[in-house]
Amino acid sequence: MGRTAIYPGSFDPVTNGHLDIIERGLTLFDKIIVTILENPAKTFLFSVEKRMELLEQSLKGIGNIEIASYGGLLVDYAVKRNAQAILRGMRAVSDFEYEFQMALMNRKLNRDVQTVFLVTGLRWIFTSSSIIKEAVKFGGDIESMVPPVVYAELRKTYQLD
Ligand code: PNS
Repeated sequence: MGRTAIYPGSFDPVTNGHLDIIERGLTLFDKIIVTILENPAKTFLFSVEKRMELLEQSLKGIGNIEIASYGGLLVDYAVKRNAQAILRGMRAVSDFEYEFQMALMNRKLNRDVQTVFLVTGLRWIFTSSSIIKEAVKFGGDIESMVPPVVYAELRKTYQLD
């Protein structure tokens, strides 16, 4: 039986930093299920359907990947999909506290699902979906930070074309 990881997130929208973690993750896991989950702390620019579509287009051609969404607890989804691990990317130190808290809560909820952190490629250390949305909204050039389909969708959304 192969090793499966859930790569959870808001993906609003997917960035090159996310793609970097997925590529690194595929060197450790046989399959990665990229899953959009609810984050009650956030408001979203794109619908779940649009976020899934952007993920699908951005990950086209990469094998051993599935795109999914789930409305409940992350650890429950991991059990449902027979996944052994949750994969998360770690950028700067500022990510640590939130990621640590979430990993410990997930462990409390289910001891059998392990959280694995991978360090983001240096190029993407300071990028996030939120900061990219803020930059593009005011006309900033973020083309090199997101997949081409995401760049086009962001420009369309903010009526920059
Ligand atoms: O990309 P994000 O917004 O940092 O991802 C956070 C996410 C969606 C992974 C997290 O909020 C999550 O797991 N939500 C589902 C509910 C849950 O299981 N929360 C963690 C334990 S309270």
